Amino acid sequence: MCVVVFCKNTISIYPVRTICSILWVRRICGRTPPSPPPHRPAFAPLRTDVSAHRHHPPIRAQQQQQQQNPPESAARLPGTQQRDAAVQERLNRRLVCRTGPGPPDLNSSTRRAGMDQAATSSSSSSSSSSPRRYTHEEYKETADWLLAHTEQRPKVAIICGSGLGSLADLLEDKTVFPYKDIPRFPTSTVPGHAGQLVFGKLQGRECVCMQGRFHFYEGYDIQTVTFPVRVFFLLGVETLIVTNAAGGLNDAYNEGDIMLIKDHINLPGFAGQNPLCGQNDERFGVRFPCMSDAYDRELRALARQTAEEQGCGGFLQEGVYCMVAGPSYETIAECRLLRTLGADTVGMSTVPEVLVARHCGLRVLGLSLITNMTVTDYDSNQKANHEEVLQTTRNRTQDLERFVSNLIAKI
Ligand code: HPA
Repeated sequence: MCVVVFCKNTISIYPVRTICSILWVRRICGRTPPSPPPHRPAFAPLRTDVSAHRHHPPIRAQQQQQQQNPPESAARLPGTQQRDAAVQERLNRRLVCRTGPGPPDLNSSTRRAGMDQAATSSSSSSSSSSPRRYTHEEYKETADWLLAHTEQRPKVAIICGSGLGSLADLLEDKTVFPYKDIPRFPTSTVPGHAGQLVFGKLQGRECVCMQGRFHFYEGYDIQTVTFPVRVFFLLGVETLIVTNAAGGLNDAYNEGDIMLIKDHINLPGFAGQNPLCGQNDERFGVRFPCMSDAYDRELRALARQTAEEQGCGGFLQEGVYCMVAGPSYETIAECRLLRTLGADTVGMSTVPEVLVARHCGLRVLGLSLITNMTVTDYDSNQKANHEEVLQTTRNRTQDLERFVSNLIAKI
């Protein structure tokens, strides 16, 4: 077989074998410098289509082949080489199409700059898409402001869940700060949450009580939700008691039961919503805090003892709390899933505060009031609603208040 070669103003006819020999000699003698290696994306997608492999060599094999025979510039090559180069170029283009542009460069300077900015920004954004990071100085400013405005030096902080804020009314020698008056403090938007910080004495023990907490579903980012906890730490608080309203998943539970939280499932955390994400400030705690002991065993034992003494041991449970982002209540399928995961109750709070509290070494006691049993049966006409949650809370408030104040006397 022969090949027609157009070169300058002459037309030549060569046998294919001769052309091949010329090309081989040129390569060996290095007269055609190898072109730069072809673009190789950082990651090639995994291919599961076996039949496709049969028709096209695997991408890696194609790349190796390309490196061994780098494509040559079409402009500089005559005849057959020109056509080879065109074929090679088409092949390259197909390769790029099939592998795509690859993932974003996670080490790019723009991304690092964004993270640094997020870690030190002092903007007051509360959107969950642009996390608000506070500096140690900012937490300290708030703590110092509070210390300057009250003589009290509480060792126990209590975060009151939906409808459970009346616990703060039991405090004596109270100093009350509406959230809106406290520098940098967010404000709560949920009915049933008063929105004030109350310092005072419960059973002779100095406490600080959050009447109204901040929820992720209100639109606050997770750092804002947990802002008060680091302020408590800087005030000198050593123990955090968190209460919440929760839906019961465990069939053995009843509406009105109180559950001691022995562990949690951080479902928003699985999706990257963990308040400890971002730069770690060692003044608060370590980079990788342990959470297998999040809920203090000693405090739980004290709580069980208190419940027995108070005669409410019959409706005290102990189990696993699962946080969901909310604000929609769970579907039947979701409730079934959470049960399968090992959750006994489900709610929309608590876990972020506990993570931050444990990070800075506070002891934690968590209490869920089961305000409703979740719906897990497709034939049921029951529907979860906030009014029911508040009504059950009202029915149980006194028991819970008495329980917490008796417990605080023992801490
Ligand atoms: N689901 C989620 N959060 C809740 C519920 C519930 O059923 N009840 C009270 N808070």
